[in-house]
Amino acid sequence: MTDLLSKFDALIAERAGLGALGVQDPFSIVMSEVKSPTEAVIDGKPTILVGTYNYMGMTFDADVIAAAQKAVAEFGAGTTGSRVLNGTYALHKDVEQALKDFYGTEHAMVFSTGYQANLGMVSTLAGRGDYVVLDADSHASIYDGCAMGNADIVRFRHNSVEDLSKRLGRLPAEAKKLVVLEGVYSMLGDIAPLKEMVAATKGHNCMVLVDEAHGMGFFGEHGRGVYEEAGVADDVDFVVGTFSKSVGTVGGFCVSNHPKFDILRLVCRPYTFTASLPPAVMAAAATSIRKLMTAHDKRARLWENTRHLHGGLTAAGFTIATKTPESAIVSVLMPDQETTVRMWAALIELGVYVNMSRPPATPAGVFLLRCSICAEHRPDQIDTVIARFQEAAQLTGLTLVTA
Ligand SMILES: Cc1ncc(COP(=O)(O)O)c(C=O)c1O
Repeated sequence: MTDLLSKFDALIAERAGLGALGVQDPFSIVMSEVKSPTEAVIDGKPTILVGTYNYMGMTFDADVIAAAQKAVAEFGAGTTGSRVLNGTYALHKDVEQALKDFYGTEHAMVFSTGYQANLGMVSTLAGRGDYVVLDADSHASIYDGCAMGNADIVRFRHNSVEDLSKRLGRLPAEAKKLVVLEGVYSMLGDIAPLKEMVAATKGHNCMVLVDEAHGMGFFGEHGRGVYEEAGVADDVDFVVGTFSKSVGTVGGFCVSNHPKFDILRLVCRPYTFTASLPPAVMAAAATSIRKLMTAHDKRARLWENTRHLHGGLTAAGFTIATKTPESAIVSVLMPDQETTVRMWAALIELGVYVNMSRPPATPAGVFLLRCSICAEHRPDQIDTVIARFQEAAQLTGLTLVTA
């Protein structure tokens, strides 16, 4: 009998093998209660969350929750329609206004997820005969945008300005090119040298799109992202982002000053051919974005917490993917898959949730326990996380190298 799922047999066997190791599946966690942006109950156990991307802790913000409750009461549970048909409410326009104010741009377009924003922007902007030039470590949504479109794809070595320049130089000068960059790369938690990269695109017939999914809220004077901090806002044509991280809800967007931007609403299939986000989400997002504009204390706390965790884990002998804290992602390098899984399982047993990452999500041979920090983590929670990492290392026999 034909089995179209047989191509997944190796993965099925690998998952089954976790049982043999006596550990639970890192990709099947269920939170039975969520107490705050930093605490949940998992397997009946109070657990510190250090793997949620809830950087600014907005999921439990009282104003955000109140706005969502009001919107669901007034506008109902969903829109049941596409943005270009019955799915645009005043709330959707209000979120787009909040984004325009936050980013200081002429235009903003809200998608149902950040994934769809990249899928739509990349596949629509670059057409047949054009090129998409992207970092090898780009997010899956960027790669999927490439796969969905008709442009030729050129990858350059992760964060290598030299390789970007070399590859741009080899392409036909007259061809149109979309260069796709990310402010923060979420696997290693490193930031892109955007100043140099954007400079390298000059003279090559390029437009530049930067994904600031992991930079919104706490990089740059207005919290717009790494591109703002790098001082290249005037040279970036499109900024893509998400509501599922600093904003604390769900949704995606693209902002731009391009005068023809609005036509994308009719030609960008992942925008047009799907239902719009529900009223509660729109109200939550608009309230959250407006609060993020002045969230200076939260930003400061997020960076303090990040330095605390990065410094503590380094001092304990763990190897972090970046020497210094570059973003609110602290990725702990692991030697191999089995140790990674055992460490992850020991941590969850000890009441700490982090993300486990391995190829193909990570570059070949790279295994990670990724921590994402929240402005709302208390210093004592960070101390507990560091202590639990040490205990987990002891339990799994991971060698720590202290200076
Ligand atoms: C760099 C990057 N872009 C886009 C996305 C997609 O965002 P969303 O969760 O809104 O689909 C993510 C999500 O993890 C991401 O890390």
